[in-house]
Amino acid sequence: MARAIEFQNVTKSFRGSSQNAVNHISFTIEEGEFITILGSSGCGKTTLLKMVNRLYEPDNGKILLFGEDISAVDVVKVRRRIGYVIQQIGLFPHITVGGNIAMVPNLLKWEKEKTNARVEELLTLIGLEPKEFKDRYPAQLSGGQQQRVGLARALAADPKIMLMDEPFGAIDSITRLRLQDELLTLHQNMKKTFLFVTHDIEEALKMGTRVIIMNDGNILQFDTPEHIVSHPADGFVTSLVNSAKAKEEFWEKFK
Ligand SMILES: Nc1ncnc2c1ncn2[C@@H]1O[C@H](COP(=O)(O)OP(=O)(O)OP(=O)(O)O)[C@@H](O)[C@H]1O
Ligand SMILES: [Mg+2]
Repeated sequence: MARAIEFQNVTKSFRGSSQNAVNHISFTIEEGEFITILGSSGCGKTTLLKMVNRLYEPDNGKILLFGEDISAVDVVKVRRRIGYVIQQIGLFPHITVGGNIAMVPNLLKWEKEKTNARVEELLTLIGLEPKEFKDRYPAQLSGGQQQRVGLARALAADPKIMLMDEPFGAIDSITRLRLQDELLTLHQNMKKTFLFVTHDIEEALKMGTRVIIMNDGNILQFDTPEHIVSHPADGFVTSLVNSAKAKEEFWEKFK
């Protein structure tokens, strides 16, 4: 297995802040892993993700993708190789669903036929009938449907690495469960490496082959879901695990 993503002592601070948003972080992710990142608001999850596709540059340290130091690679090239799903979905409102999904293939100047075939393939994959949805505009879709189009757009050029920042944050729990399962099936069928940010411990433990738990710019634990539950590294992780268990007790009342 290749090393897909490697952080070597990476630090990022923002002007005006007394502490580092990401603080001397090192880790290695193997190709094909599904890594979830869990932590409270403001702990540095988005900052970490944005350094992988060079939307932010680290102050110190190195980031390697498949062994290559990304600071030496053209920014545009780095980004086109990486799928990125942002929390706010970010579809272009004046461009059709099909056009949104075709964005990167068009930038890469794929043949029209190849792009069309890819758009139809992806719409089918995410459960939206191409004939019905391809020529609609984003505003003519529900939030959950837009979210899926965002996922299709990120997958379009078949990137080896997928970054997803709370992709299901604003979606109802029924659709969310279905999208989680769809994404897990996608992951099983493709040799892709996922970095998936979430606020939700259940989502993190369900989706992740391993889970990164962050607090105040630091990684507290990077481990399998099973090991995090059975051996939480410190008080913060313990309280996260306990918060999920408290929910279970809540449901007991209705049995
Ligand atoms: N562009 C920026 N300029 C200044 N400070 C920033 C910037 N982006 C993030 N920060 C600060 O860096 C810290 C980490 O922010 P980040 O967005 O990475 O958190 P997060 O874990 O993604 O939080 P959330 O769960 O709320 O999305 C925060 O204190 C935030 O205020
Ligand atoms: Mg964030």
